[in-house]
Amino acid sequence: MSGILEGKRVLITGVLMESSIAFHAAKLAQEQGAEIILTAFPRPTLTERIAKKLPKPTKVIELDVTNDEHLARLEDVVREELGSLDGVVHSIGFAPQDALGGNFLNTPFESVATAMHVSAFSLKSLTMACLPLMQEGGSVVGLTFDAQYAWPQYDWMGPAKAALEATNRYMARDLGKQNIRCNLVSAGPIGSMAAKSIPGFSELAGVWDNRSPLEWDLSDPEPAGRGIVALLSDWFPKTTGEIVHVDGGLHAIGA
Ligand SMILES: NC(=O)c1ccc[n+]([C@@H]2O[C@H](COP(=O)([O-])OP(=O)(O)OC[C@H]3O[C@@H](n4cnc5c(N)ncnc54)[C@H](O)[C@@H]3O)[C@@H](O)[C@H]2O)c1
Repeated sequence: MSGILEGKRVLITGVLMESSIAFHAAKLAQEQGAEIILTAFPRPTLTERIAKKLPKPTKVIELDVTNDEHLARLEDVVREELGSLDGVVHSIGFAPQDALGGNFLNTPFESVATAMHVSAFSLKSLTMACLPLMQEGGSVVGLTFDAQYAWPQYDWMGPAKAALEATNRYMARDLGKQNIRCNLVSAGPIGSMAAKSIPGFSELAGVWDNRSPLEWDLSDPEPAGRGIVALLSDWFPKTTGEIVHVDGGLHAIGA
């Protein structure tokens, strides 16, 4: 039986641990027939170690998404390995410690700027770095945490995600003519490295225990991975600028 990504070539960022959402997207993408290439931050060695747990071997490229030299050389390395791309997964988020955990009113702009650069602007930088490889169109998928609300402890990652969500819409506007779709998966909380770096993350996660219509498992990144793979596939051909919630339905519940 052929998979829904058969014949597709996909670049996937953000594989750091097995708990990374991107690891599950990579695993499912391979299982569904895609050829993938991974990018790594901060060190390729970490990602290479985790990549050994994927069904098939894959090349790993170093990429700090705020580093213009890294972005500039991405095209050549990917072209040599895969020839072209049909999909790009942006699974990147970071905010300095003083931008998280209840320090919202005192965070210096420098830290806010870092959060915005790594977590929001990078969706545009990464996509533009990959654009020459997507001459036949493609699908760009990023990850957000619902930015319509102010959450406990999430602080400046909230405005960074709001910027990411707006960036996604503008990219959909500007890349539609090239048949490139841009969408986000809005995931519920998952106990990854990024999540553990948020002081008081369990308080945020606890909201799901109380309110999620579907049972939510903090230790299971696979549902988010499935959402990513679905958006990479040909099964959302006319969907762009969209945010698909993979959050157990919590976004629909008022109290
Ligand atoms: N874990 C959650 O609860 C949750 C919920 C919703 C959305 N998300 C989002 O999902 C995405 C993936 O996070 P995750 O939960 O899998 O955690 P993770 O820690 O496994 O992944 C975050 C990734 O960001 C990468 N990164 C950080 N700075 C970078 C830089 N300068 N250049 C390139 N890569 C960089 C890290 O290497 C890491 O791979 C993030 O956008 C995150 O905000 C996470």
